[in-house]
Amino acid sequence: MTVRISPSMLSADLGRLRAEVEAAVAGGADWLHVDVMDGHFVPNLTFGAPLIRALRRLGDYPIDVHLMVERPEHYIDEYAAAGANVFTFHPEATVHVQRHLAAVRERGMLAGLALNPGTPLSLIEEVVDDLDLVLVMSVNPGYGGQSYLPAATAKIARVRALLDRTASRAVLEVDGGITTATIGAAHRAGADAFVAGTAVFGTADPAGAVRDLRAACTARA
Ligand code: DX5
Ligand code: ZN
Repeated sequence: MTVRISPSMLSADLGRLRAEVEAAVAGGADWLHVDVMDGHFVPNLTFGAPLIRALRRLGDYPIDVHLMVERPEHYIDEYAAAGANVFTFHPEATVHVQRHLAAVRERGMLAGLALNPGTPLSLIEEVVDDLDLVLVMSVNPGYGGQSYLPAATAKIARVRALLDRTASRAVLEVDGGITTATIGAAHRAGADAFVAGTAVFGTADPAGAVRDLRAACTARA
């Protein structure tokens, strides 16, 4: 199983954006995770298309956008044009989920749905064929630096079973509280992509932190 590490720019020093990105990539980062928050769907405000454009100007890095916003469909065209590669939103934030997933694919991006800790799998079951990615939240979204909720591990396993049962090749990504201490359990449960903010950019050595996460991911328990 390919392991992808997606450092979250939420914890990066934006005043040193190029250096932060280059360090993460030097450590083997596969994607760059961008957390878009609107102050409504989650109680925090962050960034949007300008940061995606800035990252795209820095290089050919895959940009993994996670929208914690109401009506995410309003941003599909703009983010595709800005250079986003993955477009993940929360099903509670809109109405016509299948239509929007199809629109994301039409714009050439991978289409993802995110599940909050309190959101049941039933919200994605009917649209598995429209999904390129499932994002299991292992914290309640809104802030970096929270602790991994242990219940996420069993949920990852249930999503893995759903994907296997439906012969889906969707990426199974986990987000929130991922550290060298938690990544192994999430991987063994079936996750193959890992968002990490604090564990990468909250350290003095982001490149080493990405390498450590990858090593911890596949180490035996
Ligand atoms: C949380 C965001 C996460 C966040 C993760 O709402 O979706 O992507 O940046 O941060 P850490 O890794 O610090 O928990
Ligand atoms: Zn995120």
